[in-house]
This record gives sequence, structure tokens and C-alpha cells, in this order.
Amino acid sequence: MPVNEFRKNAKIIDNFLTKYLKKQKNSGLITPMKYGILNGGKKIRSTIIINTGKIFNLKINQLLNVCAAVECIHSYSLIHDDLPCMDDDDIRRGKPSAHIKFGESTAVLAGNSLLTLGFEILSEKNFLINDNKKNRLIKTLSLCSGHSGIAGGQQLDLSFEKKSKSLNQILNMQRKKTGKLFNFCCYAPTLIASREKKEIKFMSELGEEIGLLFQISDDLLDLKGSQKKTGKPTKQDQKKGKSTLIRLIGEEKTLSYALKLKFDIIRKLNRYGKKANSLKETVNFILERNF
Ligand code: IPE
Ligand code: IPE
Ligand code: MG
Ligand code: MG
Ligand code: MG
Repeated sequence: MPVNEFRKNAKIIDNFLTKYLKKQKNSGLITPMKYGILNGGKKIRSTIIINTGKIFNLKINQLLNVCAAVECIHSYSLIHDDLPCMDDDDIRRGKPSAHIKFGESTAVLAGNSLLTLGFEILSEKNFLINDNKKNRLIKTLSLCSGHSGIAGGQQLDLSFEKKSKSLNQILNMQRKKTGKLFNFCCYAPTLIASREKKEIKFMSELGEEIGLLFQISDDLLDLKGSQKKTGKPTKQDQKKGKSTLIRLIGEEKTLSYALKLKFDIIRKLNRYGKKANSLKETVNFILERNF
């Protein structure tokens, strides 16, 4: 069951992050940063990094810095996503959102600090990969996080509220706000394993499709899921007029779109035989989950 694997991976990554944060100088932001990153979360991106690593015979220990960096950036994006100037949501991971607990300015700054912490973790001396690869990881993660990735996608998401947007505009926005970080999750292990350029591109693009699938399933959960399971308010997208596939083509066609996307991803993974089984299970889980 991927759920057990998620929990196991989440523990390992939380452990790494707890130790890492302990070594930092204390500051007024450490507590809200811990609140944002250690308080639950599926750690699905870490699982995808580890699953991809399996395809290329990498061990979890070789990927811990990558997982922790990605979770820092993901958690930063959630803290900011919940702010009143963005989605204005009060509950995250079953608890008050960071700005409710600590106030808006502290939430903004804790988010910023998690974003930079991600890059600090990737550039650590004891992350034992060669400097050229480390540099490429840092550069690609920057591209996936900034205006051509998460931040750019979030800006589009907000500017698309209550507007009628085309299928391609919505998919482009979702690929940026969510897909790009998943792109990095499949890119990083492939690069670390020294695979050739063509294959790195293939896996990056596949990761982006997995991220798109994840966002579509998040939108379906907003419509059909419960706050009890997801740990965040549901039925919010319609209220806010979010431009989602569901709003454009309806629930049924969105589900068919997602199923086809999932099928295409799984088919592309067939070239790796059994080594891709755990990544395939995670991809299947994405659509079946209720949290
Ligand atoms: C929620 O991400 C935000 C999206 C990109 C859809 P997750 O569902 O991975 O959030 P956590 O980390 O498990 O809380
Ligand atoms: C968030 O999308 C994407 C991010 C990059 C943070 P949503 O706004 O749908 O995420 P939730 O539903 O609040 O977790
Ligand atoms: Mg949002
Ligand atoms: Mg949101
Ligand atoms: Mg959502």
C-alpha cells in the first residue's frame, strides 16, 4: 500500500528536517517554520523522488537533501497560498493556517525563510554529489519555484478567478503552480544517477504530467472530498470562481481527462519494467486518494 510507504518516507524526511532545523541558529521564525513544514502533510513529492530513485538504483540516503529541499519549498507555497491576499483559507493540514496561528507578517516571512532554506539544504557540503550536479539541481529548482514555476502559476491562478479561460490556459497555469515542482522531483534523481540528457528530459516531462494529475485530483477532492480527510476546507474553488477543468468541462469530463492522463503516464513508465512499480503505485494513488 503506498499509504504506508508515504508514512514511512514522511517520518524519514521529518526526521532529517527536525535535525537540520535544530542545528540552525534560533530566531523568531523557527517555530512558525517548523509549524509549516513538520505539521503533517503527505510528503507525496518526497515519495515520488524516492520512487524515481528506485528506477535508477538510488538509495533514500542519496536523496534526502533533495526531498527535504522540495518539502521546504512546497510548505512555503502552502503558507503563502492560504494568506488572505491569496486563497484566504484558515485551515491547513487539520490545523489553523500559519497566518491564523502566528499573524500575517510572520507567515509571509516564515514562508520566505522556508523557500531559502530549501536552497540552503541543496547546497550543503555534506550532500555528497559533485558540484556540477549540485549546481544544476539548484538552478532547476529555482526555475521550478519562481516566476516560471510555482510563483508564476500562483499569479495566474489568482488572475484567472471569475474569468473564462481556455483549456490550454488552465493546463498551463496548473503545470506551473503544481507541475513544475513534480517535474523537479523526477528530474533530480535522473540527474543524480547520471542518465543521459534525453532521458532526463523524458523524466522531467513525465514528472510535470504527474504534477498536473495531482492538481486535477486536488480540484476533484475540493469538490467531492471532506475537510475531515483532506485537513483543509473543501468546496472552496467554486466559491472563489477558480478556473479549474471542473468549471470548464464539468466533473465527469474532468475525471475522464484525469484517467487518460494517468493511463498515459503509466504507459510511459512501462519502459522501466518492474523498477517503476512503486512510482506507478504512487501515480495510481493520486487519483484514488481521499486525502
Ligand atoms: C496541496 O498539496 C497543494 C497542491 C499543490 C494541490 P498536498 O496535497 O501535497 O499537501 P500536503 O503536503 O499533503 O498537505
Ligand atoms: C495550490 O493549489 C498550489 C500551490 C502551488 C500551493 P490549491 O490552492 O488548490 O491548493 P490547496 O487546495 O489550497 O491545498
Ligand atoms: Mg491556490
Ligand atoms: Mg489553496
Ligand atoms: Mg485545491
